[in-house]
Amino acid sequence: MILVIGDIIVDEFIWGDVSRISPEAPVPVVAVDRIDRRLGGSANVVRNLHALNTPSAMFGLVGDDEPGQWVHQRLGELHSDDSGVITKKNDRPTAIKTRIIARQQQVVRYDREWTQAAHPTSHAKLLMTLDELQPRSSATILSDYGKGVLTPDFIRQLIDRLQGGIIAVDPKPEHTDAYRGATVITPNLSEAAAMAGMEAVNDDTHVEAIAKKLHEKLQLNYVLLTRSECGMTLFDGSQNHHIPTVARDIFDVTGAGDTVIAVFTACLARGDDALTAAPLAHKAASVVVGKLGTATAEWQEIESH
Ligand SMILES: Nc1ncnc2c1ncn2[C@@H]1O[C@H](COP(=O)(O)OP(=O)(O)OP(=O)(O)O)[C@@H](O)[C@H]1O
Ligand SMILES: [Mg+2]
Repeated sequence: MILVIGDIIVDEFIWGDVSRISPEAPVPVVAVDRIDRRLGGSANVVRNLHALNTPSAMFGLVGDDEPGQWVHQRLGELHSDDSGVITKKNDRPTAIKTRIIARQQQVVRYDREWTQAAHPTSHAKLLMTLDELQPRSSATILSDYGKGVLTPDFIRQLIDRLQGGIIAVDPKPEHTDAYRGATVITPNLSEAAAMAGMEAVNDDTHVEAIAKKLHEKLQLNYVLLTRSECGMTLFDGSQNHHIPTVARDIFDVTGAGDTVIAVFTACLARGDDALTAAPLAHKAASVVVGKLGTATAEWQEIESH
């Protein structure tokens, strides 16, 4: 079982049609056909693990509201352990990003979220559940969307507690120093450059220098730096392995980073070495960028890609 800790977001899509302008204000009136929801933010990593048939447990916060109940239900459908999903009474609503889409055009997006640092009592509850589930886990993913669950102090506590196990981090540059001692970080180029205090240039020489600096500074086993259309680079402390993308049709790159960390960690957790895991993570990312919407990839698709 892989533990996923981070900011749970609900992605909501309201599909409809526009036939007139509102008499109340110069805005379109959308007649709603359908409403879709998807687990987003860190919970998108759980969706990816489910597609890989890898059991997971989600740790994060939801509000005492209907979207929060939906999160629990959806995690249940994905067979993900939700005992680490804490319901915050009163103050903190479930983070939800709602897009209204009419005739293939996004009309507006509105976000409801609370990005202040989680309360110490919430962190204490998360740690209690972590202690219960950790003996059954094979790896942990810290999926840092910067929305308040993963504060630097809490990240330190997690990494100290999880020492000896596989800890993969999808980082936020603001929290760089807290990730010291993790197994691997999976930043994209601009995140990695910000973390290293270097320029974000997407060529091998610059990327190698950035990866080396982060590897040393944070005492990691690996840096897996994702480079959009240039693929990814794995640095293992002695060598750089560049994995280029093969030209193909790109439909939607959102969520590719979640796929990368899910597949890379699932591979390490089952005993693959990093040099085997990285090309599989890369293939999986190539599968999902070729699909519309925040997509996931199954083993069969990854292997046959
Ligand atoms: N335009 C692209 N063409 C081909 N492959 C891509 C493209 N964009 C992303 N990928 C694939 O997805 C991986 C992750 O993409 P990227 O470096 O953009 O991560 P990211 O910015 O963290 O993504 P996310 O939006 O999910 O946070 C890349 O390493 C690559 O394999
Ligand atoms: Mg990312």
